[in-house]
Order: sequence, then C-alpha cells, then structure tokens
Amino acid sequence: MNLLLGLTFWVTLVAAWVDNQGTTCTLYPESLAHHGQAVDDSPSIQQAFEMCGTNGTVIFSKNVFHVNTVLNTTNLLNCDVHLRGELRFSTNIPYWRTHAISVVLQDQVTAWLFGGTNVNFYGEGGFYNGGGQAWYNANRNESNQPGRPMSMTFYNSTNLFVDGLKIIQPQFWATFVWASKNVSMTNLFVNATSDSEWYTMNCDGYDSWQSDNLLVENATIITGDDCIAAKGNTTNLHAKNIYCEGGTGITIGSIGQYPETPDYNLNTTFENVHIKNAMDGAYIKTWQGTRIYTPSNGDWGGGGSGLVKNITFRNFTMENVGLPIQMSQCVYSADSNKGCNTSKLQIEDVKWQDIRGTSRFNIAASLYCSDERPCPNITFDNVNITGVNASLGLPYYGTDIQRELFQCTNLVNKKGSGIPCNQAAPSNFSQWIYGNVDTSGLATLS
Ligand SMILES: *[C@@H]1O[C@H](CO)[C@@H](O)[C@H](O)[C@H]1NC(C)=O
Ligand SMILES: *[C@@H]1O[C@H](CO)[C@@H](O)[C@H](O)[C@H]1NC(C)=O
Ligand SMILES: *[C@@H]1O[C@H](CO)[C@@H](O)[C@H](O)[C@H]1NC(C)=O
Ligand SMILES: *[C@@H]1O[C@H](CO)[C@@H](O)[C@H](O)[C@H]1NC(C)=O
Ligand SMILES: *[C@@H]1O[C@H](CO)[C@@H](O)[C@H](O)[C@H]1NC(C)=O
Ligand SMILES: *[C@@H]1O[C@H](CO)[C@@H](O)[C@H](O)[C@H]1NC(C)=O
Ligand SMILES: *[C@@H]1O[C@H](CO)[C@@H](O)[C@H](O)[C@H]1NC(C)=O
Ligand SMILES: *[C@@H]1O[C@H](CO)[C@@H](O)[C@H](O)[C@H]1NC(C)=O
Ligand SMILES: *[C@@H]1O[C@H](CO)[C@@H](O)[C@H](O)[C@H]1NC(C)=O
Ligand SMILES: *[C@@H]1O[C@H](CO)[C@@H](O)[C@H](O)[C@H]1NC(C)=O
Ligand SMILES: *[C@@H]1O[C@H](CO)[C@@H](O)[C@H](O)[C@H]1NC(C)=O
Ligand SMILES: *[C@@H]1O[C@H](CO)[C@@H](O)[C@H](O)[C@H]1NC(C)=O
Repeated sequence: MNLLLGLTFWVTLVAAWVDNQGTTCTLYPESLAHHGQAVDDSPSIQQAFEMCGTNGTVIFSKNVFHVNTVLNTTNLLNCDVHLRGELRFSTNIPYWRTHAISVVLQDQVTAWLFGGTNVNFYGEGGFYNGGGQAWYNANRNESNQPGRPMSMTFYNSTNLFVDGLKIIQPQFWATFVWASKNVSMTNLFVNATSDSEWYTMNCDGYDSWQSDNLLVENATIITGDDCIAAKGNTTNLHAKNIYCEGGTGITIGSIGQYPETPDYNLNTTFENVHIKNAMDGAYIKTWQGTRIYTPSNGDWGGGGSGLVKNITFRNFTMENVGLPIQMSQCVYSADSNKGCNTSKLQIEDVKWQDIRGTSRFNIAASLYCSDERPCPNITFDNVNITGVNASLGLPYYGTDIQRELFQCTNLVNKKGSGIPCNQAAPSNFSQWIYGNVDTSGLATLS
C-alpha cells in the first residue's frame, strides 16, 4: 500500500515539468504535481524552448497549462511545436499591463513573443485561451487600453508555418505578424465573444506589420474588430478562404499614423471571403494628413505618407454588412471633421471583383480620396450589393432613397470605375455608420 502510494507520487512529480528525450521536450503542467493548483507553467515552457528550440521539437501534452507570466520564445531554429493542450492565460490584469512585451507599433504589447527560422507550429487540438472576458469587462468599450496585450506575436521570423492555431477569448488582437517574411497561417480559428454588456472592442483576428510574403488560408474569425488588418509595410499578403463574423471586416490599415515611417502596402489579394453581421466589409483606411491627438487610440496620429498599390478584393459574400466597400482617409478624425481632405497617402490600382450580398443600410460603397491625393485606377467588376431590407421586399428604413448608394469623391476616371458613383462621398465617414444615408450623403455616425 505504502509502496504503491509512494510510486504514484513519484510518477506524478516526474510527469510535471519538461520531459526531455533527445531533441524532444514534452511539457506537462505543474498542476499535476500540485493538486490541480494553477501554478505558473511559464518557467517550464521557457525551459522547453531553451532546450529544444534549436533543431528540436516542443510538445505541449494534452493538459491545461497555466500561463501566468510573459512568454518570450524567439530566435528558434529548425523547431517544431505541437500544441495539444490548453494554454490558459491568467487574468491578472495589473500584472500583464506592467509586464507584457513591447511590439513598438502604437506602444502596444504582447503576452507571447514567438518566432524564429524554419519553425512549424501545429495546433493539434490544443488551443490558446486568453481569458479575454476579464479584459473586455475592464476595457469598458474603449479602444486601445494601454498595456492590454496581443495574444500571440510572431516576430523576426523567416519560413514560419502555423497550422491549426486556435485562439479563444483573446485579450486584444489575437495574432500579430511583425518583422517577418514567408509566414503561412493555415486553418486559423479565433473566437472573441463577450457575454457581458462590454464589447470585444479591438480584438482583431490577424494583423501584420513590416512583413513580406504572407499567406492566410482557411481562417474562421469571430470578433469585435478587424478580422484581418494589413498594417504598414505589409507586402505580398495573400488571404483566402476566410469566414469573418462580427467586427469590422477585412482591411488595409489603418496606416499613415506616423510621419517618420511611411507605409507601403503593396501586392495584396484577399479572396473567397464571407463576411457576416459586420460593421465593414472590404476596405482601406488611412489617417488624415495632419497630426491630431486621438485619445481613443492613446496617441497622436496622422501626417504619414506612403503608398497603397495593387490591392485586390475578390469573391466576397457580404451578409448584413454596415459599409460593405470603403476607402476612408480620415478614420480617426472623422468625428471632428478635421483634415479628411489632407491625407498624403496615395492609393491606386485597387480592384473589387465579384462582390455580392447584403448591406445593413442603403449604401454599398463609400470611396473617399483626399484633394491632396486623388486615387487613380480604382475599379469594380461585378459588384452587386442589395440592402437587407430591400432583399426582403421592404423599403429602406426612414429614407426616400430606394436604391443602393455608391459614393465617390476624388476617384480619377469615376465613369470607368464600374460602379454607378451616384452620390459624393462625404468627408466625415469614419469606418462605420449606424444608419441610412440621406439624400445629402450624410448618415447617422454614432
Ligand atoms: C542545427 O542543425 C543545423 C543543420 O541541420 C546544424 O548546422 C547546426 O549545427 C545545428 N545546431 C545545433 C545547436 O545543434
Ligand atoms: C526575448 O528573448 C531573446 C532571446 O531569444 C532576447 O534576445 C530578447 O532580449 C528577449 N526580449 C525581451 C523583450 O525580453
Ligand atoms: C532576428 O533573427 C535573426 C536570425 O534570423 C537573428 O540573427 C537576430 O538576432 C534576430 N533579431 C532579434 C532582434 O532578435
Ligand atoms: C464562440 O464563443 C462563444 C462564447 O464562448 C460561443 O457561444 C460560440 O459558440 C463560439 N463560436 C464558435 C463557432 O465556436
Ligand atoms: C459596448 O459596445 C457595444 C457595441 O457597440 C454596445 O452594443 C454596448 O451597448 C456597449 N456597452 C455599453 C455598456 O455601452
Ligand atoms: C483549406 O480547406 C480546404 C477545404 O477544407 C482544404 O481542401 C485545404 O487543404 C485547406 N488548406 C490548407 C492549407 O490546409
Ligand atoms: C517601410 O519601408 C520603408 C523602406 O522601404 C521605410 O522607409 C519605412 O520607414 C517603413 N515603414 C514602416 C512602417 O516600417
Ligand atoms: C509586386 O509583385 C510584382 C509582380 O509579382 C513584383 O515584381 C514586385 O516586386 C512586387 N512588389 C513588392 C514590393 O514585393
Ligand atoms: C499584384 O499583386 C498580386 C498578388 O496580390 C501579384 O500576383 C501581381 O503580380 C501584382 N501585380 C503587379 C502589377 O505588381
Ligand atoms: C468564392 O468564395 C466562397 C467562400 O466564401 C467559396 O466557397 C467559393 O468556392 C469561391 N468561388 C470561387 C469561384 O472561387
Ligand atoms: C490598374 O490596376 C490593376 C490592378 O487592380 C492593374 O492590373 C492594372 O495594370 C492597372 N492599370 C493601369 C493602367 O495602371
Ligand atoms: C443582384 O443580386 C440580387 C439579389 O441576389 C439579384 O436579385 C439580382 O438579380 C442581382 N443583379 C445582377 C445584375 O446580377
């Protein structure tokens, strides 16, 4: 009896921590040896990557891991990671807000900085649980709360393949690809859903910055903000087979925030996308041309230059989308109506092709380019959006406009654009509207 108990105890102790066999490190959670207590597993996770992060394999066994402190597993080389268990991030908000790792952009931070060369990450039934509800409640519908961490940042990586990553209840942006090239993310699943009165504000699904040659294939993203956002210096991004629910759709931007670092967003294709119950659909958003303090974004912004060129949105199905197609050059100054017309960020060669479905209001598209930088070669091919009400045979609510609106301002060669351009785009649309557009082109903006 005693011998048996002793043996069980010994086996359990060995089971916790890192089991290292040759170049493979298998992780077991501390809770197994501590009567289920949420003891921090971050030190053993760090140790596993130190031991097996070069020419090795790290396996998270099928258990619950408690991540109570930041993870920095970078500079991996020829490493395979298998996530079979749950990574349960703690909801100690004061801790994360003072310890999460900087990602430089907008003074933002991350809970896990991950990356390397020739790295494969397989989410084999395991998942990342960000404990986001605590963050949504604490955030109280604000935009960028300082110190609210992105779930997982893929940094300084080359030849990184991430398959089957599943993130539920992300704290903030779920995934962020930064300063990397040749990064494929396949079969990504993100679900940010709040069960309280506070929304999942700013829980983007996939964002990229200063990165080249990116693939996103087969993603399901349910969230309260951008499903996919290509930030500054994202080039050669190809996103396909995307289901995007809630939030604010698929976008280039926002860009043009910082005058010191111009944003070049070139060669991007988004295709085979289904967007459901979202505020926006397929769009491009830039800051205005003058610097304005924007408290909701926690920072000054605007005045940045750059170029958005050769962007294609192809084969989109919209379902009840607020503003299905848009270009805005003043997403953060629209309310104050300051400087929308000043943006220096050139947008050209953008195509929307095979776009169908329903809009929430009486507007299909709002395309606004500044007087400073009119937009050449903005084309539409086979765009057919019908108001949800109209599709049910109902009139548009509270308006005498009975046709779908396509607003255009400062498009070069409007007539050749492929859409009716039956109204001017006003200079005060942010990235969303809350009601129908009237005959003067204005909508309920809040
Ligand atoms: C890792 O593998 C590469 C090539 O396979 C080899 O050149 C390198 O020495 C190995 N590094 C270590 C630390 O084993
Ligand atoms: C992350 O770890 C790398 C070593 O892989 C180190 O060089 C870097 O300074 C660490 N970054 C932070 C923010 O701790
Ligand atoms: C980025 O990765 C390279 C290896 O590709 C490494 O030499 C370099 O030190 C890393 N930079 C940082 C800041 O970690
Ligand atoms: C997303 O999460 C919410 C809340 O946890 C849940 O009710 C819903 O079923 C999830 N959706 C999917 C597709 O898993
Ligand atoms: C938070 O924002 C959501 C989405 O806009 C809204 O439905 C909700 O009412 C807001 N919550 C509060 C308490 O204002
Ligand atoms: C994407 O999903 C389709 C349909 O399920 C599948 O055929 C394809 O192999 C998937 N692509 C990747 C890269 O997993
Ligand atoms: C983008 O790349 C250019 C150089 O090609 C550089 O001048 C600029 O600062 C970069 N911008 C960002 C946001 O990194
Ligand atoms: C854009 O794509 C073209 C054609 O493939 C290529 O020649 C060009 O180098 C790409 N631009 C960038 C910035 O990668
Ligand atoms: C535009 O970008 C696409 C990839 O999104 C690329 O295939 C194409 O060659 C590029 N065209 C030009 C003219 O650079
Ligand atoms: C268009 O996208 C949908 C997914 O939204 C996909 O099922 C369909 O096969 C795509 N059509 C083409 C012609 O690629
Ligand atoms: C217009 O943009 C498309 C990409 O959307 C590109 O293929 C085409 O070459 C451009 N036309 C001109 C005249 O620049
Ligand atoms: C546009 O879509 C509606 C609703 O699906 C359909 O009734 C209509 O025939 C389509 N129009 C064109 C020109 O394809």
